[in-house]
Amino acid sequence: MMSTTQLLTAVGALVVAQTTYSLLRVLAVYFGPSRVGRYLHGPHSYALITGATDGIGKGVAHELYKKGFNLILHGRNEEKLKKVVEELKASGSGRDIRTWIADANRADVDFAAAAAQWEGLEITLVIHNVGSAPVRESTIDGIAAGELLTDIQRNDLFPLLLTRAVLPQLRRAAGPTQLVFVGSLSSAFPIPRIVPYGATKAFLRQLSAALGSDEAFRARSTPNVTTLYMDVGSVASNAHKTDVSLMTPAAEAFAKHFVHCIGCGRASVIPYWPHALQTCTVGFLPDSLLQKELFKAMEAEMDLLKKH
Ligand SMILES: NC(=O)c1ccc[n+]([C@@H]2O[C@H](COP(=O)([O-])OP(=O)(O)OC[C@H]3O[C@@H](n4cnc5c(N)ncnc54)[C@H](OP(=O)(O)O)[C@@H]3O)[C@@H](O)[C@H]2O)c1
Repeated sequence: MMSTTQLLTAVGALVVAQTTYSLLRVLAVYFGPSRVGRYLHGPHSYALITGATDGIGKGVAHELYKKGFNLILHGRNEEKLKKVVEELKASGSGRDIRTWIADANRADVDFAAAAAQWEGLEITLVIHNVGSAPVRESTIDGIAAGELLTDIQRNDLFPLLLTRAVLPQLRRAAGPTQLVFVGSLSSAFPIPRIVPYGATKAFLRQLSAALGSDEAFRARSTPNVTTLYMDVGSVASNAHKTDVSLMTPAAEAFAKHFVHCIGCGRASVIPYWPHALQTCTVGFLPDSLLQKELFKAMEAEMDLLKKH
């Protein structure tokens, strides 16, 4: 019969083994080899990236093009799209680049027509990157209802309806495909003054997780279509004009970490490891201290906005 000391030692050893295993699995995502190549089935695989004319979306387009993907770039500004296509072509990979113009703020986007023009293409990656909602001076009762609806239209309905339109095509691909949803750490913390933003990103987290589960349920085995929700922290971009630092990488640098994590096998990931470390540390704070830190962070954001 086991003594109490032996029992406690066995439980302790189990806890240490399980913690070490979990830690190694997390480290493998950041420092192990990337599995994004599994979505490059050959010279004909396409990645569709929304909001690809600036910031993170443009950075991700550059990274995926370098890796040999053909691209479908989405934007709302024809001139900016043309410029990004020229930049990419000059980088010399020689793969195909198509464009799709649609204003994600509008309720009348023709998703069926968009999907029909890509019918013969092998789309293996969809990066749902478009999204934003400003830091507002007002609480939600001071924001026009139309503005709130537009936030939901752009951040949630646009990726939902685009997913609905391209899902059958992704399922038909000869190998694995992935839908990546660009979220925000603001969906995990109750940050003031960006209530609609955090809430719309939380919708994406659940959409991604449930959709992944639904595809697995449908296939009753490993599905062709998997999903990944990416929790993004502070990144210097067109939408977030701030100084670059370790905790706020430039969009181009961040995009390398983002692409590295595609296909990592998890349902959600914080793609930039310093943000993951920061989130882990913040998780240990008591609620009252956490709230103080969130207030401080929002005051800094509001000061930043006044400068621009
Ligand atoms: N930067 C951060 O600190 C941060 C933090 C957390 C999460 N994120 C998320 O990361 C994603 C990218 O953000 P970002 O910082 O890279 O922003 P960004 O630099 O402003 O780039 C946004 C891209 O989306 C396009 N876009 C915006 N509204 C659109 C609309 N209504 N219709 C069509 N295209 C539209 C922009 O087009 P134009 O070039 O025409 O403006 C641009 O190509 C977003 O989902 C954002 O929520 C960013």
